[in-house]
Amino acid sequence: MPVNSPLVEKLYLWYDLFIMVNDIKIILSGVKPTGRPHIGNYFGAMKQLVDLQNDYQDFVMIANYHALTSVNDAEQMRNDTLDLAIDYLAIGLDPKKTHLFKQSDIAEHTELAWIFNCLTTVPYLSRAHAYKDSLAKNKEPNIGLFDYPVLMAADILIYDANLVPVGQDQKQHVEIARDTAEKFNRIFGETFKIPEPMILKSVETVPGNDGRKMSKSYNNHLPLFSTDEEIKKYVMSIKTDSKGVEESKNPDEDLVFALHKLVSDDQLPELRARYEKGSIGYKESKDILVANLIKFIAPLREKREEIAKDKDAVLAILAEGAKEAKKKTVAKMEEVRKKVGVN
Ligand code: TRP
Repeated sequence: MPVNSPLVEKLYLWYDLFIMVNDIKIILSGVKPTGRPHIGNYFGAMKQLVDLQNDYQDFVMIANYHALTSVNDAEQMRNDTLDLAIDYLAIGLDPKKTHLFKQSDIAEHTELAWIFNCLTTVPYLSRAHAYKDSLAKNKEPNIGLFDYPVLMAADILIYDANLVPVGQDQKQHVEIARDTAEKFNRIFGETFKIPEPMILKSVETVPGNDGRKMSKSYNNHLPLFSTDEEIKKYVMSIKTDSKGVEESKNPDEDLVFALHKLVSDDQLPELRARYEKGSIGYKESKDILVANLIKFIAPLREKREEIAKDKDAVLAILAEGAKEAKKKTVAKMEEVRKKVGVN
C-alpha cells in the first residue's frame, strides 16, 4: 500500500485520535547521521528505540542539522542520512508506528531555536560538556556546536514530548531543554511541557575485540550489517587469555562470553556452566558465537539489502514522517509566535 493512500491517511487520523483519548505519551528522539552502526550501537540504543514504539507516540528524527556542526561534505551528509533511515527500518522501526523524519524538513525547529537563543545566556551555555570538551581539546568550536543544546531543546519542546530516550551522555542536553522550557514559560506564560529524560540503561557496555568499549574510534567494532565472512574474522580476532580447554574460566571476564550474552540466549546457562567447569575451549566458544551472530545478523542484513533496493520508498517514508511532524510543529509555532509577539 502506498504510504500516502487515502486509506493510510484515514488510519493516521484514527491513530491520532486514539493517542489523544488514551493519553498516550509522546516520545521524541534524535539520532545523528554519522557513519555505519556497530553491534554496540544496536544493543546500547537502537534496539531500545525500536522496542519503545509499541507503547508511545513515537517521533524519531534524523538530526542532520546537528550533524552539520561536524560534517562538511554534502555527499556524505546525504548518504549517511539515507543510510541511517534504512538502518532503522531494517532493525524494525515501523513507519506505521513511528514518525521517522529529517530534522531539516521541519524548519520550525530552527525557528524555535532562534527564539530560545534570545532567552539563553552565553555563561549558561558555556557550561555544556560538549562545548567545554571542544575548548579543552584546543579546538575552535563553531557557533553551531556552542548552540547545539538549544537546537536540541527546540527539537524536544516543539512536540510537547513527555519522554526523551537518550544515553547517559545526553542527559545534560535534556536538562538544558527542561531549563529552557521553564524559562520560556516563566517569561511568556505556560507553553511548553517539561520533558523527562528516559535514560537508556546501557545493556552492559558492549566490549570490542580488544576489551575496550566497542567504538568506531578504537576500530574494535563489529559493524551491525556485517557479512558472514566479516563476522567470522571479527570473532577470531577477539582477545582471550591462554587457558586450556579443561581449565575453569570466569565467563564474566571473557570477551567472547560478553557477546554470547547478547546473542546466545537459549544456550547461555549451558555455556556458563561449561566455562566454569572447564569443559569448553575458546575455539569452540568462538565457533558457537559465530553461528549465533550469523543467525542474528544475517536476517537484518538481508532485510537491509531489500529496503535499500527501493530508495524512493525510503524517501517517501521520510516525507510522510515529516508531514506528520509538521502538523504538530506548525500549530505549536503559531502559539509561540503569539506568545512572543511576532505573529
Ligand atoms: N544529540 C543527540 C545525540 O547525539 C541527537 C539529538 C538531536 C537528539 N536532537 C535530539 C536526541 C533530540 C534526543 C532528542 O545522540
